[in-house]
Amino acid sequence: MQMQEYIKNKPLIIQRSEGKYLFDDKNHAIYDGVSSLLNASYGHNIEQIISSMKEQLDILDNNSLFLSTNEQSVLLAKKIIELTNGHFSNVFFTNSGSEATETALKIARKYTFRKKGIGNGKVIALRNSYHGSTMCATLLSGNEHDIQGISFDAGFIQVPFPEPLYYSSDEIEEKVDEHILELREMVIRNPDVSAIITEIVQLSNKASVVPSSFLEKIRSLCNEFEILWIVDEIATGFGRTGSYFAYQSLDVDPDILLLGKAISGGYVPLGAVCVIRPIYDAFIGKVQEGNELAHGFTTSGHPLACNASLACIRFLEENNLVENANEKGHILFESLNKLIQNYDFVLTISGKGLLLSIIFKPGIKVPMMREWGIAHLISKRLIHYGLLLYPDSDDSLIIAPPLTITDEDIHFITDTLSEVFSLFSNIIAYE
Ligand SMILES: Cc1ncc(COP(=O)(O)O)c(C=O)c1O
Repeated sequence: MQMQEYIKNKPLIIQRSEGKYLFDDKNHAIYDGVSSLLNASYGHNIEQIISSMKEQLDILDNNSLFLSTNEQSVLLAKKIIELTNGHFSNVFFTNSGSEATETALKIARKYTFRKKGIGNGKVIALRNSYHGSTMCATLLSGNEHDIQGISFDAGFIQVPFPEPLYYSSDEIEEKVDEHILELREMVIRNPDVSAIITEIVQLSNKASVVPSSFLEKIRSLCNEFEILWIVDEIATGFGRTGSYFAYQSLDVDPDILLLGKAISGGYVPLGAVCVIRPIYDAFIGKVQEGNELAHGFTTSGHPLACNASLACIRFLEENNLVENANEKGHILFESLNKLIQNYDFVLTISGKGLLLSIIFKPGIKVPMMREWGIAHLISKRLIHYGLLLYPDSDDSLIIAPPLTITDEDIHFITDTLSEVFSLFSNIIAYE
């Protein structure tokens, strides 16, 4: 958000939270329809998670993985590996999603150097992706506005992909083949490519779902040219799209998996990078012979963060929240689709599971709209009606409620949207 607008408009001050609700400084209850920022996936102030964390603080408050290890980080690594059915063999802990991206970039380049003798290997990302806000993660995503004034040649390339928003289901497979052909030619032209990084659903691009066949063909391409496929599931991991990890709905597996956000339910910061055995093995051996990743953060594998994560995963499993996300995601999608038929300023609903977006038609004009798009204006009005959603762009409103969502919550979301959309339908004009 523009800081000038943030200052001009009184920011929403959240004083406390409880379950699916946030309470502002006037004790007004607001349904957290974006799970904080897709991290508070299990709801706020869950007693069993907080008491587990308190107990952990009394036992071991801190530990650096540089000199030793701790039980919680080992247990969490094992648990994550179990959730991937043993596909990944090792987990590297970070403090955020952006750090997970940075770590993966370093791993991919170092691995390529060790395996092929090629240094500074290029990394290909999808256009309109978001992989974080550190320097390399920003340049990797390559968003024109974000890189303005900070750009340098970091060896990242962004390629388009067939976005479902722009093609009918009949056209999509043909487009997938066209894009894969272009990608293949690009890899041939750049023999120093070390990795391709993708999301499965792009949170910051209107919850755009990357076609499964495109991802499956990326896997084949990576196999053919011996390059790594990194999947960024910082937003989609831990049940958000209806499976533990979104890649598990495909017929293929990545080489590196990035996790963050819901990994620790928003209770404390945590991120993780999962790698398959051959990648881990490539760094094992004598340090003098270059067998070292030389990477880590002071608080990597912090026992409190790992304890919080284990408690969150226990809560997720005990309450069958992955199944709930799948089931309620379908119901919410259908309900929203039905709702938008009544409002001609809404274009479509995109996304998967409980990561959805309402996309508005381009060229909408609202009288009080100066710097802000329709999605921002609607989101501000929704807060007055007790619903927090996230405008990820001028024309898209993200809905990503806690995985504990019920049918009543779905009614509340659609009724509230209907009320606010009706207000707007009276004042909207088109360019
Ligand atoms: C897909 C994706 N990757 C990376 C990040 C960066 O994570 P963090 O904000 O924890 O650094 C985000 C955050 O929104 C994300 O959605």
